[in-house]
Amino acid sequence: MRAIVLEQFGSPDHLKLRDDVDTPEAGPGQVLVRVHAASVNPVDTKIRQHGDQYGIEPPVIIGYDVSGVVEAIGDGVDDLVVGDEVFYTPELDANGAYAEYHVADSGIVVVKPADLSHEEAAAIPLAACTAWQALIDKAGLKIGEHVLIHGGGGVGHFAVQIAHAAGARVVVVGSPEMEDVLLDGGADVFVNYHEADGTSAMEDLSCGLGADVIFDTVGGETLAKSVDALALNGRMVTIVGDASGAFGKVYQKNGSIFPMMMQRDGGMLDRIAALVETGDLEPSIDSVMPLADAAEAHRRIEKGGIEGKIILKP
Ligand SMILES: NC(=O)c1ccc[n+]([C@@H]2O[C@H](COP(=O)([O-])OP(=O)(O)OC[C@H]3O[C@@H](n4cnc5c(N)ncnc54)[C@H](OP(=O)(O)O)[C@@H]3O)[C@@H](O)[C@H]2O)c1
Repeated sequence: MRAIVLEQFGSPDHLKLRDDVDTPEAGPGQVLVRVHAASVNPVDTKIRQHGDQYGIEPPVIIGYDVSGVVEAIGDGVDDLVVGDEVFYTPELDANGAYAEYHVADSGIVVVKPADLSHEEAAAIPLAACTAWQALIDKAGLKIGEHVLIHGGGGVGHFAVQIAHAAGARVVVVGSPEMEDVLLDGGADVFVNYHEADGTSAMEDLSCGLGADVIFDTVGGETLAKSVDALALNGRMVTIVGDASGAFGKVYQKNGSIFPMMMQRDGGMLDRIAALVETGDLEPSIDSVMPLADAAEAHRRIEKGGIEGKIILKP
């Protein structure tokens, strides 16, 4: 099969298109999927540079979002059939999705909403599951609460929609390229991160009470700096880097803080598919590129300024 193989860690130039890669086979409990679309996430660029920190060794196929069609099923799989159109986020410890075929454990594979194209479906699993786990599972976001979201990109634009669907009031701090997408997705207030940090916007929206939930997808000093916007008993979730700089200030507000790593879970993706079907969740797609352009996709993500997700088509 054709695939993009990461031959060694480093620059995007190490992502090589090969047409002689063995097509994988579905083992017990697994399905073989013909990949119709794969999306590119920032974690792909991190693994490309230092995958050893994730327990990954080259040569390896990366890519952690798939939409495609079940081509074969292994022993013991009884909830999927050949021909099902599916989407999911592959595990990090096996080959990924920049390829014509991918094998996955059936437990993480979910039938995709019929009205979504493969390109739209591939944009969803990793980023939307991360947003769901942060806001719903970790922070326990409730109707009527106020949430401050840092970073309105791949994860953040789903977080805005999930928070809005949960009945929360949302301030999102993001890039100007994403302003329309974020307001259309249900943000009450958009703040351009080049101009402000969202603290006073949250103060205004919550009538001085502050954010019940802060979700940080940016990292660096953002989390520690944004504790001032947290309400008494508030909850903070970060998916990027070190949260230790914020601990003291959060505890002074009797708050909680959760550094988080997304866990793959087909049941959660089913709930996200239901939000897609009710029209509450929609991906923003920056661009669709041929698989051969994976290196260019990485350069664009690292440069920033994109409007949602970049999709690769094998
Ligand atoms: N722990 C986990 O399980 C997990 C899961 C998924 C993602 N992540 C990580 O979470 C991060 C975000 O992922 P993503 O897919 O959302 O990335 P993304 O699509 O690149 O979006 C990041 C967005 O944040 C914006 N931004 C940059 N600096 C900002 C600031 N100071 N304040 C507010 N917004 C700012 C960026 O704007 P510009 O385009 O102008 O730079 C971009 O729109 C990545 O580091 C990713 O690896 C972690």
